[in-house]
Amino acid sequence: MVRRVNSLEPKTVGDEFALLVSCVVDYAIFMLDATGRIVTWNEGAQRIKGYTADEVIGRHFSIFYPPEEARNRKPDWELETARREGRYMEEGWRLRKDGTRFWASVVITALRDQTGRLRGFGKVIRDLTERREQEEVRNSARDREEARLRAHADRMAELERIKAQFLNLASHELRGPLTLIRGYNSMLQDGSIPAGQVPAVARLLEIKLAHVDLLVEQMLETARLEHDSFDTFRQRFDLGDVVQEQLDIFRPISPDHQFMLDDDGTQLVVEGDRARIATIIANLFDNAVKYSPAGGEICCTTRNRDSQVSVSVRDQGLGIAAEHMPRLFTRFGRLPTEENVTINGTGLGLFLCKEIATRHGGDITVKSEPGAGSEFTLILPAAP
Ligand SMILES: Nc1ncnc2c1ncn2[C@@H]1O[C@H](COP(=O)(O)OP(=O)(O)OP(=O)(O)O)[C@@H](O)[C@H]1O
Ligand SMILES: [Mg+2]
Repeated sequence: MVRRVNSLEPKTVGDEFALLVSCVVDYAIFMLDATGRIVTWNEGAQRIKGYTADEVIGRHFSIFYPPEEARNRKPDWELETARREGRYMEEGWRLRKDGTRFWASVVITALRDQTGRLRGFGKVIRDLTERREQEEVRNSARDREEARLRAHADRMAELERIKAQFLNLASHELRGPLTLIRGYNSMLQDGSIPAGQVPAVARLLEIKLAHVDLLVEQMLETARLEHDSFDTFRQRFDLGDVVQEQLDIFRPISPDHQFMLDDDGTQLVVEGDRARIATIIANLFDNAVKYSPAGGEICCTTRNRDSQVSVSVRDQGLGIAAEHMPRLFTRFGRLPTEENVTINGTGLGLFLCKEIATRHGGDITVKSEPGAGSEFTLILPAAP
């Protein structure tokens, strides 16, 4: 028999209880017959699910389930569990009449008479969507905070690693020239260097001091980049002049190399930090010399095309293996080559060059063939 609890007048204790249930608004409380058809319906059920009693009584309760669950016969399985174990409880998605989902806390209880015969099921449902949403908000805030802390910890670990590399490098790379400088200095003090050789020693000391200077400057630049306190000084200048200045510096100190300049007569006006861009050209020349120990030509080509200015430095040296390319522009990215055991360097040069170039809206590219030589090209936007 189909009975609508909320249409009953209370006449007995049982009826009063039915009235109480019918008036509860925070919980959907209703009964199913043994096959899962809806028998009673209360205020709460109407409020939570959106159906009136007339619309649902007599229908199978699987209408409250998302279609994929109804197809998988989950409703029947829940009743079967309640039948077997007396009760079935879960939290899960259910459907309202308008098709929207809500997060439900569900309890299904098997109702048996005194003889133990199954009369049907009582179903109590609470809408926990709001609680779940709040939990989700809390969880995602917690996830974000965790991610932030993780990123911070990673960054600290990275900085710690860089610091260790720095200290290693400082002790290793600076100690060499300092030992040499100290040695010559004590020889100068005790007069063991003949007067005629003093100018040559002074030149050597000058080169070593310049090397120490360069190292310190590279390390400071790297540290500035790390902390974003890298203020670039912007001015308009002709990159061709910078190339010429660097050629004038490198020609006399690299007697085993022939420096050639191929410019097409165009001006190379750019806007940027002149001193820093000069260090890019210096680094490219320094590498071209260092990594062609057998000497040879170093050809510098400058062009101004399509609002882009370029300076290429091509050597006939060792070249770079394809598998080493990804390492080339990384911090401390010295290549693990046999030759690098005897060729000094910190692996900061190209890293700094690339950083400076990209911060000027430009780039550095490379073409190389092992054993035949390399060509590095600095590209910068031409000044308007
Ligand atoms: N022209 C080149 N030919 C062959 N290998 C090169 C050339 N330029 C750079 N390399 C390789 O790339 C690595 C990175 O170069 P980079 O200039 O960054 O560092 P470095 O020369 O070792 O040290 P630094 O320039 O800081 O003194 C070098 O160690 C070298 O192995
Ligand atoms: Mg270098």
